[in-house]
Amino acid sequence: QSVFWDHMRMPLWLCVLALGLRAWDVSTVVSHKEWGAEAVGCSTPLTTPVDFLVTHHVPGLECHNQTTCSQSLWELRAHHMHNSWCDVAYNFLVGDDGRVYEGIGWKVQGMHTQGYNNISLGFAFFGTKEGHSPSPVALSAMEALISYAVQKGHLSSKYVQPLLVKGENCLLPLQKASPKKACSNIIPRSAWEARETHCPKMNLPAKYIVIIHTAGRTCIMSDECCLLVQDIQSLFIDRLNSCDIGYNFLVGQDGVIYEGVGWNVQGSRVPGYNDIALGIAFMGTFLGTPPNAAALEAAQNLIQCAEDKGYLIP
Ligand SMILES: *[C@@H]1O[C@H](CO)[C@@H](O)[C@H](O)[C@H]1NC(C)=O
Ligand SMILES: *[C@@H]1O[C@H](CO)[C@@H](O)[C@H](O)[C@H]1NC(C)=O
Repeated sequence: QSVFWDHMRMPLWLCVLALGLRAWDVSTVVSHKEWGAEAVGCSTPLTTPVDFLVTHHVPGLECHNQTTCSQSLWELRAHHMHNSWCDVAYNFLVGDDGRVYEGIGWKVQGMHTQGYNNISLGFAFFGTKEGHSPSPVALSAMEALISYAVQKGHLSSKYVQPLLVKGENCLLPLQKASPKKACSNIIPRSAWEARETHCPKMNLPAKYIVIIHTAGRTCIMSDECCLLVQDIQSLFIDRLNSCDIGYNFLVGQDGVIYEGVGWNVQGSRVPGYNDIALGIAFMGTFLGTPPNAAALEAAQNLIQCAEDKGYLIP
């Protein structure tokens, strides 16, 4: 079950009732044709009910009425088709005006999440800045859309909402390393001269691993990597007002794992998930190119190590 929506369900329903809003029904959907695009350009059928629901937001596409939402959606579709996709990437979208906009609809596979497109529905909020909630009307429209999807058999009632952080590159499954090897070679905080902190504890075993990049400079030699980890800790503490470095572990291009806050303390990079997810960050900016093979293997071993030591649910 979804972590996010389970928490939201009660307050939203109360809110909807209190405001006396009309219950959402399918007739309030702005169809693909209505927002200005003729036929859906995609045709790979989606076998329903699907087991997964993926929700995204599309930063920069804030819109508050049907005219501007339609225009934004039309531009988003053009952008996605420019990427040689067949149509807009999502099955449905929700505007801050509380309207649901049909993307490619219920019956066709989207292009929203590599590896999940054939087994999930993809719903997206227009706009929404990092760390901000969609508007209450948008949240209740999303809620209603999800209930409708379940009711009509498009989405399994036991659906899972996976935590996905988008990225181009995946860790390839490697041969299972022996536990000893998997857990070796982690540079402890003392070795990179970490500043001492007292931060909130993790809720172990973790349910998720979040893989992220630091989106800053990289390092190739171990001296350089130690200094970089120190700098990143200072950045978090002195500039971002964080309790400590925001990641549980960091990976250098030297193929070495550096302990961030470690296993037992929460990172701070994924609001809502910090107590249940271990965050592993590749040091550097990896938009067009992946981390090198040594770094990928080190990260893979670390995940194996987490599982072997019981810090991560298998
Ligand atoms: C829709 O929103 C835009 C931008 O916020 C505004 O300029 C426009 O007048 C609005 N249109 C209607 C019909 O309310
Ligand atoms: C979805 O696609 C993957 C990869 O192409 C394939 O292995 C899997 O069997 C597909 N699942 C369904 C339900 O079609």
